Amino acid sequence: MVYTRGFPAVLAMLFALPGAAQQPPAYDQPFRPQYHFSPRQNWTNDPNGLVYFDGEYHLFYQYNPLGDRWGHMSWGHAVSRDLLHWQELPVALAEENGIMIFTGSTVVDQHNSSGFCAGGKPCMVAVYTGHTPAAGGRPALETQNIAYSNDRGRTWTKYAGNPVLDLHMTNFRDPHAFWSDTAKRWVMVVALPNEHNVLFYGSTDLKKWDRVGEFGPAGATGGQWECPTLAEVPVEGGGTRWVLKVGLNPGAPQGGSAEQYFVGSFDGTAFTNDNPPTTTLWTDYGKDCYCALPFNGPPPGNRPVMLGWMNNWQYAGNVPTSPWRGQMTIPRRLQLRQTAAGLRLAQEPADVKALRGAHFSWRGGDVAALNRALGKAARGASWELRASVQPGAAAEIGWKVFSGGGNYTLVGYSAERGEFFVDRTHSGDTSFSPNFPARTSVKWPAGAGPVEFTILGDRSTLEVFAQGGLVALTTLVYPSAGANGMQFYAEGGKQREVRVERWELASTWPRDAAR
Ligand code: FRU
Repeated sequence: MVYTRGFPAVLAMLFALPGAAQQPPAYDQPFRPQYHFSPRQNWTNDPNGLVYFDGEYHLFYQYNPLGDRWGHMSWGHAVSRDLLHWQELPVALAEENGIMIFTGSTVVDQHNSSGFCAGGKPCMVAVYTGHTPAAGGRPALETQNIAYSNDRGRTWTKYAGNPVLDLHMTNFRDPHAFWSDTAKRWVMVVALPNEHNVLFYGSTDLKKWDRVGEFGPAGATGGQWECPTLAEVPVEGGGTRWVLKVGLNPGAPQGGSAEQYFVGSFDGTAFTNDNPPTTTLWTDYGKDCYCALPFNGPPPGNRPVMLGWMNNWQYAGNVPTSPWRGQMTIPRRLQLRQTAAGLRLAQEPADVKALRGAHFSWRGGDVAALNRALGKAARGASWELRASVQPGAAAEIGWKVFSGGGNYTLVGYSAERGEFFVDRTHSGDTSFSPNFPARTSVKWPAGAGPVEFTILGDRSTLEVFAQGGLVALTTLVYPSAGANGMQFYAEGGKQREVRVERWELASTWPRDAAR
């Protein structure tokens, strides 16, 4: 009897050791986003190879299989059927022979133009940068390479004839390849980071690439150009225009890394900018959206969907999360909208209706009454807020989110300054980098109508979309445990009507993903 009772006690003690059965569920640590993708463990940066194929959205990503710092870059892999629930799969493309797998894209080869597809079925072809670090007096080398999969991305074979493009350069990377209906061939856009140039290549078989055009320098050139993407985007009200998006690091207006875009036309070889080269447009006015990539082959009829790495190279290596480091933004549907200044990108977050739980709805002008009601309703750390406010006589209106224990983050509109802003200087843990505490903003002159927000909170992520997505402010925050409060405020005068809808959002991680 003593043994049979004693034995489980010993086992229980063993399991209490770190790393044994008592460890927290795999996706439930402090700061772990609940409806955004992050790898179960280790480092990630850019999303790579986003593609929709056979009912699945594939998310590959820059991944270090060996640790939570940048290094040994490989492609991690996850799949989703709804852009919200992700299942992590084994590493797709691993570093090999000292060659790291840098950022790139994936296409679906419908008609076996590559000769890689088996059994008369389409296959997947990844186009990526191979990065060989400097060694023995030899400089680093970046070349473009391909790999293919005949089992829906589960296993990959690197092409024996790699590299497919070699300019013998240290900085030449991040190919975005896609099928061009206009040119009737594959197109690749790829960056010459130090020249602030994007090169265009064409191919009929994904193996032999001919240079057909180039773009740049233009816009912002205060850092390296990385992660170029080119997509045809519908214009609200009819027609389409092409958006060439380029990452910049460093040199972003908010500091560190950010992304600019150019609106224009693309004839299959050359991109023509609609604006003068001095016009600089930014995709995001927060600090934390980089190397966003659209999905290739989206289901027909849908607008392009892109998602980015939610981070900034200024402090990505120091963010206080464990056992993972790095997470993705919500996928965003893209559209172009005509404004007084010209066509501008509008981003609409993926539909999260399926995750909605407890609902709070309020309409009126009494701020104290709103905050009393909101105080009872705002419970969780993963939520969606949709609000519109008539600023009236107020100099500034806004939301205090993730508030509690002295922490809060402000999301607001200053009529006085004519700007939308997010202020995370008191958001919680900001100590890990002097570049983290920040108030980021975008000029937006006060108009006659209401200001309108869609805000997604998810533990450490805060994504603010304003004015129908014309403004995006993507922001990391690390509030203390339980800082889930939410309040409205108006300063320097009385605002008029406030309309609020708020939902708690459910976790998309399986509860049994414990170990
Ligand atoms: C951008 C980037 C890319 C490169 C990758 C390496 O964040 O620097 O240019 O391919 O990260 O991880």
